[in-house]
Amino acid sequence: MTTEFPLLGEHAYVAYIQKLDSMGANSTTHIAEVRYPVQAAPVLSVVKFLDPNCLAASNEAIAWLFLRAAGFVAPRHAAILALSAKKARDVVGKKAFDESLVTQDCVIAWASQKLDFKSIRAYFAGTRADAEWIGLLRTLHGAQIAAFDEVFLNADRNTGNVLYSGRDSCIPIDHEQIFDHQDWIGGNIMASTRDSDSLRVIKRAYDGGALSLGAYNDIKNKMVHHAQQHESALAACKDQISKLIAKVFKDGSATFEERILSFAAERTAEHWMETRLGVV
Ligand SMILES: Nc1ncnc2c1ncn2[C@@H]1O[C@H](COP(=O)(O)OP(=O)(O)OP(=O)(O)O)[C@@H](O)[C@H]1O
Ligand SMILES: [Mg+2]
Repeated sequence: MTTEFPLLGEHAYVAYIQKLDSMGANSTTHIAEVRYPVQAAPVLSVVKFLDPNCLAASNEAIAWLFLRAAGFVAPRHAAILALSAKKARDVVGKKAFDESLVTQDCVIAWASQKLDFKSIRAYFAGTRADAEWIGLLRTLHGAQIAAFDEVFLNADRNTGNVLYSGRDSCIPIDHEQIFDHQDWIGGNIMASTRDSDSLRVIKRAYDGGALSLGAYNDIKNKMVHHAQQHESALAACKDQISKLIAKVFKDGSATFEERILSFAAERTAEHWMETRLGVV
């Protein structure tokens, strides 16, 4: 029996702690204590308010379920929160609050356990951050992220969305824009031929000489290696994804579930990554 992804009400939001100190962060994103199921004590978490249509929140949750199932290092606790508009306004302050986030007097938020690492961008300035990211993509953790991004067509992998946890380790965050920004509530997800952000960075580094042919092929081989886990990872979390979509969307959820799961099934199938990357 697998546990269901938590969709929590206001009672789970225990206390506002402080603003996020990272540069450029959305002004409503903050640190708060959140109480998750199966965890009695409140957990220090990063909370961000998202579009009320729940697309971004569902993308975050789908990615989180898959990452956990595939054995990534990722925040242990995460949830979608529904807060009353009053509560959301009160915690971040009227000035910072964005009224367009309110629907039916409710605000949707993504909460994930705060890890004690900063993003690559927060550690390294400017082009140094880009170079560090290319360096990390050559490691097992980095290539694991690149493989995930390619399967889920992540269109928002930048140095602000990777936590730097050491010279050869990193943790992916911020998966609002998987499925290449596509509105899968409004229509089908297209299996685009576009590369994910990570693969684009890797190809550009190779074309520009920052990666040798050997290093380029080595990253692709590592991605293929990680992709061998993808089929079983999807099998392990697909019921949770179905239940999540059914709970969030109710009407039409069967169609949405079909769209997501058939897209993911195609791209997690055996040998998909080899074909995608042209690795023989
Ligand atoms: N689980 C976490 N643990 C530690 N830090 C986190 C976590 N989640 C988010 N952060 C920090 O918060 C920042 C913003 O989070 P995230 O990227 O998910 O939101 P965002 O709305 O896309 O913000 P931005 O516009 O800055 O990218 C991250 O760059 C990172 O520094
Ligand atoms: Mg981000």
